[in-house]
Amino acid sequence: MDQQVIYLDHAATTPVRPEVLDAMQPYFAERYGNPSSLYGLAQEARDGVAEARERVAAVLNCRTSEVVFTGNGTESNNTALKGVASALRDRGRHIITSAIEHHSVLHPLEQLESDGFDVTVLPVDDGGRVDAAAAAAAVRKDTILVSVMLANNEVGTVQDIELISRLVKARSNELGGDVKVHSDAAQAAGKLPLDTKTLGVDLLSLTGHKIYAPKGVGVLFVRRGTPLEPLLSGGGQERQRRSGTENVPYIVAMGAALELAETEREEFVTRTGRLRDMIESSIQGRMPDTKINGDRNHRLPNITNLSFPGVQGEPVLLGLDFKSIAASSGSACSSASVEPSHVLMAMGLSEEMAVSSVRLSLGRESTESESQQVVSAIPEIVARLRAM
Ligand SMILES: Cc1ncc(COP(=O)(O)O)c(C=O)c1O
Repeated sequence: MDQQVIYLDHAATTPVRPEVLDAMQPYFAERYGNPSSLYGLAQEARDGVAEARERVAAVLNCRTSEVVFTGNGTESNNTALKGVASALRDRGRHIITSAIEHHSVLHPLEQLESDGFDVTVLPVDDGGRVDAAAAAAAVRKDTILVSVMLANNEVGTVQDIELISRLVKARSNELGGDVKVHSDAAQAAGKLPLDTKTLGVDLLSLTGHKIYAPKGVGVLFVRRGTPLEPLLSGGGQERQRRSGTENVPYIVAMGAALELAETEREEFVTRTGRLRDMIESSIQGRMPDTKINGDRNHRLPNITNLSFPGVQGEPVLLGLDFKSIAASSGSACSSASVEPSHVLMAMGLSEEMAVSSVRLSLGRESTESESQQVVSAIPEIVARLRAM
C-alpha cells in the first residue's frame, strides 16, 4: 500500500489493526478445526469462538447466549428485520423506521413492504434527529418492530435510542402490543456506549470492519425471548439463529476488535473530536459558506460532512485523491451514482447542497499533520472548481 495515503474514510472501512491480526492468525492454519467436531482441535476453535462471544457480551452488557455472529452488518440488519417480521407476522405487520437508515435496513424493509408489511418511515429534523415522541405516536397495536440507527454513517448524527425505546414500548404497552426495538450500531462501536440494557433495545447490529477487524464479520444481539426466524437454516449453529460453519478467525477478530475499541473509546472520542473540530473550524474560517451537516450536539466525534455551495462533491474527491487523500461523498455503497444522498435530502438539504457534500471520517491512526493537510487541500480544490 502507498504509505503516503491520508486515509479519511474510516466510516467506509478501517484497516485491520495489528493486535487483531495477531489474535486471528492462529485460527487459519493451526487451530483450524470445525467448532462442531468432537476432537481436541475442534475444542480449540470452539474456545476461540466462546472467548470472542464473552468479549462481545461484556461490551454489550448481555448474556453470551444473546450474541449471534453473522457475516456482516448487512446480514445482521436483514436478520433482525426479516427475522422478527417473519416470526411475528401473525401478531402484526407494522414496522417503524427512520428516513436516514442505511440501505441494509431500508432495502429489506422495502422487500417486507412488498410482502404485505406496512412500513412507517419517520422524518428527521435538519440535523438528522428522530423525534422520540413522534416515534411513539406512530406506534399502533399491530406494530411489531421499530428500527432506528444509533449513529448515522453519512453525517454521524446520534439518536436517543434509550428515549425512543422507552417511549415506543410504553405506547405499545398502552395499546396492548409488544413492540421490539432494533438499532443499527455499525458506526457507533468504539464511539458510543453499547450497553444493551441501558439502550433498552431487543436487537442491535454491529460490523467488524468499522472497528479494525476484517470485512465479512458481524454481530447481532438478540435479547432472550425475542422471536426470530433465521435467515439461514442448516446445521443450526449460533443456537439455530445463523446456520453455517463459524468463521472462526473472523469471529476471534471481532471479539478482539470490539474489546479494544471499547477499552480505547474515551481516548478515541477525545482525540478524533479535537481533530474534527480543528478541521471544521479551519475550513469554515477559510470558506465561511461551508455548511456542516449533522446535529452539532449529537454526533459521532470522528465524522464531518461538509457541503461546499456551487461545487459538486465528486470533483472535490477527485482533487483530494490527486493529493493522495481518501475521502467519500455519502456512503461508500452509493458513491458510484450521482444520486443525492437520501440522508441529506431527508434532512432538508436542497439537491444542489446534497450533491456538494464531502464526508471526512477520522480513525485511531489519524494525525494532526494529516488533518492540517486536508484543511489546506480542500479550500484550494474548492476555489479551483469554483473558478472553472
Ligand atoms: C450504518 C451502517 N449499517 C450497516 C452497514 C453494513 O455493514 P457491512 O458493510 O458489514 O455489511 C454499514 C456499513 O457500510 C453502515 O455504515
